[in-house]
Amino acid sequence: MNPRTPDLFGEVSPEPSTSKASVTGKSTDSRPLTPAARALVLRGQLHHHAHAYYTLDAPEIPDAEYDRLFRELQTLESAHPGLLTPDSPTQRVGGQVLDAFAPVTHRVPMLSIRTETDTEARGAETFDTRIRKELGLSESEPPVDYVGELKFDGLAMSLRYENGVLTQAATRGDGETGEEVTANIRTIGQIPLRLPPDAPAVLEVRGEVYMRRDDFERLNERQRQRIAAGTKGEKTFVNPRNAAAGAVRQLDSGIAAERPLSFFAYGLGDITPASDGGPQWAKHHDMLMQLKAWGFPVAEQTACVQGAAGLVAFHQRIAVERDALPYDIDGVVYKVNDLAQQARLGFVTREPRWAVAHKYPAQEEMTTVQAIDVQVGRTGKLTPVAKLFPVFVGGVTVTNATLHNELEARRKDVRVGDTVIVRRAGDVIPEVVSVVLDRRPAGAPQFTMMSLCPVCGSLAEREEGEADHRCTGGLFCSAQRKQAVWHYAHRRAMDVDGLGDKLVDQLVDSGQVKTLADLYHLRLDILANMDRMAEKSAINLLEALEKSKTTTLGRFLFSLGIRHVGEATAKELARHFGQLDAVMAASEDALLQVADVGPVVAHSIRTFFDQLHNREVVQALRDAGVTWPEGDALAPTEMPLAGVTVVLTGTLQSMGRDEAKEKLEALGAKVAGSVSKKTHYVVAGAEAGSKLDKANALGVPVLDDAGLAVLLSGQKPG
Ligand code: IVH
Repeated sequence: MNPRTPDLFGEVSPEPSTSKASVTGKSTDSRPLTPAARALVLRGQLHHHAHAYYTLDAPEIPDAEYDRLFRELQTLESAHPGLLTPDSPTQRVGGQVLDAFAPVTHRVPMLSIRTETDTEARGAETFDTRIRKELGLSESEPPVDYVGELKFDGLAMSLRYENGVLTQAATRGDGETGEEVTANIRTIGQIPLRLPPDAPAVLEVRGEVYMRRDDFERLNERQRQRIAAGTKGEKTFVNPRNAAAGAVRQLDSGIAAERPLSFFAYGLGDITPASDGGPQWAKHHDMLMQLKAWGFPVAEQTACVQGAAGLVAFHQRIAVERDALPYDIDGVVYKVNDLAQQARLGFVTREPRWAVAHKYPAQEEMTTVQAIDVQVGRTGKLTPVAKLFPVFVGGVTVTNATLHNELEARRKDVRVGDTVIVRRAGDVIPEVVSVVLDRRPAGAPQFTMMSLCPVCGSLAEREEGEADHRCTGGLFCSAQRKQAVWHYAHRRAMDVDGLGDKLVDQLVDSGQVKTLADLYHLRLDILANMDRMAEKSAINLLEALEKSKTTTLGRFLFSLGIRHVGEATAKELARHFGQLDAVMAASEDALLQVADVGPVVAHSIRTFFDQLHNREVVQALRDAGVTWPEGDALAPTEMPLAGVTVVLTGTLQSMGRDEAKEKLEALGAKVAGSVSKKTHYVVAGAEAGSKLDKANALGVPVLDDAGLAVLLSGQKPG
């Protein structure tokens, strides 16, 4: 909770050069106030936000914004000391104690650390200079020994062990008095409940309870499902620290146990040595290693470093590693390693002089939503994206943040003109975590997803039980063109050899292929001029395209990429209706008669062919010469191998397995992937393995290439 800790040294760092006026909204763009009036406003806002943060575990603004308000008040108070009141938020450390938990008086107060807000190397150098001065070290004396630690973004915890047993866990509270949360803390598997016999008689371990980012994502996903299922009183969490604080201060420890927490130790509180004196240490780092030996997690990045150069290198190294860590950190902490030196340095108010936190750029910031655009992905998924006033967050400038889908956008109720909190932590794509409601402009309309695809104008639909809207313009929509061409050419679809991903990209990007039918009008000179295409490969591709024109109805239907229509469904459709026009004209009811076609699939097929664009593309493909043998609708029982189940295994001599499968299915056989008692024949080629063994074990007839030929003649071998 350090970001909210007053900086009692009263240092003020320059305001960041981001779009302050627009991001801080009401707090800056009102008429200039007198210092007294401004101090009053700031105190009111800080009290309000501290309550939301500490007591309700539901912050409304990012830490970085709180810090800015806090520093503004500090500056005002130091320029006008008469304005300072005893109840000013600058005069209090930490949060309030909730009545719900028993108060715990810390025998050794839980201190906070001074924060160095200069995120550049200078932050480390300033600290080292101050330490050397306060220790009275001259320039000729060797560099100071420091320990570099991570500054975990969770909440401080004091764990008390008496005679080796965990007896009490307490939050920091205001530093003097915390809350007793032992039951909830016992649910954290990483915290030892019992210590080895060499542990001191009384030992208070101080450290940070936090939630890993992956645990946080999983928890929020579960919360979203609960909300979607209508469970009352559930909410999602803004960030891992907020989720951890909520779990620790959960009154029902059963619920706390469902929320995965972790722990890192970084210090000591009260300690009474064991009667035999017990282990001793003269250095902070040795003490950490002893804690580790007793079973407490200590971050592996913790390192001994020398002088300002060592601190700067540590800060830079961790900055690089930060995104890859599985948990959030908001900076690093430097501590003087030698405990005798620590004692000489002592404390000022509530902060030790021997430690400092050196921050990194914030992972949450505030900005405004300029627009909400809808993007269409290559599978036709429509994604609302918030277009943001550029904001520096998590080390990069962010201008876009996904809102995932209409349900999410509505749940967060993000509107154009809103002030929002944006989070970018780790490699995760930037997200809008919440809206600062009291800064919403009057009349901002709620977001609704459009009913037409913004790229091609086809109908955009959300299926029952799904969160995403999709464009139904499949073949026509330019956003989906590459995917459509790639799918069309696939071996199991139209099988156009030589039409790889890279070539598809070039053909679509250069505008040569706007619809699938354009593939059949490609000229040799154009193809040969594409990157990495020689004349020979261009000729081969043209031949492959020519060959693909003669196909089957099942393959053609599959190649159209109709959502939910896989290879098997396409074959069933072909078998059932016999002719393409019959499939295109079939009502949803008629489609439901087809084996394996349920309401979702039937609706998807109907919607696809209802789009004029899609019908035009089909016609253009036929005009280009794509043909297949059309027949009458056949009842499955009329086919020679209807009801026969065959398994293919090993390498066949007469044909590939795909070809054999297709031919068998055309005769009505079912080709299965595994052998069971219901299998009628196993066709085994060279190097057949376990399937052949199983067939023999079950007494299923085994056929070779000759037996397959008999089957393909429509007869059932002996
Ligand atoms: S040492 C005597 N070390 O930062 C110094 N604190 O204001 C006591 N924190 O809320 C703190 N990582 O929970 C220390 N490696 C670390 C830390 C750390 C995170 C938090 C701590 C407290 C705040 C200090």
